[in-house]
Amino acid sequence: MNSESVARELAEPNLRRLLSTAGLDVEYVSASGNTLYRQGANGEPIPVLDYAAGYGALIFGHNHPDIVARARELLDEQTPVLAQFSSHPYANQLAAELNRIIRRETGSDEPYYATFANSGAEGIEAAIKHAELDRVLRLSAVFEEIEASTRRVREEVRAGTATVPEGLGARLGLPRPAAGQDALDLLIAEIDRRNQRRRAKPPVFVALKSGFHGKLMGSVQLTHNEAYRTPFSALGAQARFVPCDHPEALKELLQDERGTLLQLTVADGGVRLVERDHHTICAVLLEPIQGEGGIRPLSRAFAQEIKAFAEEADCPVVIDEIQSGMGRTGDFLGATRLGLRGDYYVFAKSLGGGLAKASVTLVREGRYRPEFELLHSSTFAKDSFSCHIALKVLQMLEADGGQGYRLARERGAALAGMLRGIRTDFPDVVKDVRGHGLMLGFEFHDQSEATDDTLREAARSSMFGYVIAGHLLHAHAIRTFPTASAVHTLRFEPSVLLTDEEIDRLEHALRDVCALLREQAGHRLVLA
Ligand code: F0G
Repeated sequence: MNSESVARELAEPNLRRLLSTAGLDVEYVSASGNTLYRQGANGEPIPVLDYAAGYGALIFGHNHPDIVARARELLDEQTPVLAQFSSHPYANQLAAELNRIIRRETGSDEPYYATFANSGAEGIEAAIKHAELDRVLRLSAVFEEIEASTRRVREEVRAGTATVPEGLGARLGLPRPAAGQDALDLLIAEIDRRNQRRRAKPPVFVALKSGFHGKLMGSVQLTHNEAYRTPFSALGAQARFVPCDHPEALKELLQDERGTLLQLTVADGGVRLVERDHHTICAVLLEPIQGEGGIRPLSRAFAQEIKAFAEEADCPVVIDEIQSGMGRTGDFLGATRLGLRGDYYVFAKSLGGGLAKASVTLVREGRYRPEFELLHSSTFAKDSFSCHIALKVLQMLEADGGQGYRLARERGAALAGMLRGIRTDFPDVVKDVRGHGLMLGFEFHDQSEATDDTLREAARSSMFGYVIAGHLLHAHAIRTFPTASAVHTLRFEPSVLLTDEEIDRLEHALRDVCALLREQAGHRLVLA
């Protein structure tokens, strides 16, 4: 490769340029625990305290020694990383351990079957594909019932044990049969035409405003952020978004999506036209705590409304635990706090322990379609390395009766307490502190009307959170980012290794930022 092409930026140069405007285009050369190390001007490692932590993917921090040791062990023993189409005992062990933990937290003995993938969005794609397969197969079963019923009606009319009442066709707007036309044939043809039109309606997914479920073709249509979603709307099944804590929006949606399938039956010697409820809602998706949308915890009450909605719509609740799961909120499941059991769960991020790329989609037995296993796969999924690493992460979370969860609760409470203390002292600057455990958001008031030019321009160009992140990095050697769809909110998602000293360092830095904002002193921002 010639020196010119090396000099030229070829890996997402536009993003790199954008990062540089906020001083975020720095190079990290190593990482351990809650610390990333930058390369100093003289090649010395500069420690940076990492509160972004892989966007919530490092429940045990960077390169945790026990997880690294397990990785080394696996590689030294030449684990069969890629052994597709084989028994994969490690995948079954992982699925069994996930089931054991879910059983404990939900109190239900119903098994969940696991489908593996390589990223969060892929896990969501598997979930929505499975839900669609289930919807289509259930719809086929309904059509088989309708067709069997039609056959029975034909037999009874032919045998003279049933007649087609006058005017039945008129209910469907059919004209009186002309000479030589058979009233029943006309009726059956019209019913089938209407039913097939209904059957051809595409599935509808229900998701929440501010929700984020990934950026692949299917999952991006379930992600509320319009910038991510709308350029690709033609590519995937559409979602309808409801605002959180608006149960009436769920009821309206169900009513709006409701339709009917028509069926002929026979009763008391007469042919009857029956209307069967039908809707195209395929699944409802939620995050127990919305992450990328601004660290917004779902309320228990609304979670129960969603459960009632799904029961009435007879569709699965897909709980996206990709960011809120794996102990981050202080329970294994972020949904445990909501008293909500999922029909499906999706895990990723911390499942890979900061070393492997893995996701798993779990479907409860009552909704599971074994056919799916022959229709969905991925070269790298369910591999021995990521399954064993994931088993190690679960073992570390579960050790000592759940030490990982206790740490997430205790460390999260200490961090949240500090953040709330700052909000109490700077109510003019800090709008809200949200979240649970080690999934916390710190929201600044909108600075779009700031008197300071720099701050106002940053806010108006949706760069405010990134500029503050740049200042935290260069003035305080602390790394975090705004949640990309809510740029006035900084995300704090460190590992359970968080120390009091690291909390103190963040407090000092944030108080500096709040003072700078209170004084409208944009000139004090350090972005390089
Ligand atoms: N679902 C949730 C709740 C997520 O937070 C993410 C990623 C995904 C799905 C997609 O997972 O990136 O592995 O494909 N969240 C990142 C964030 C982007 O900013 O928190 P992925």
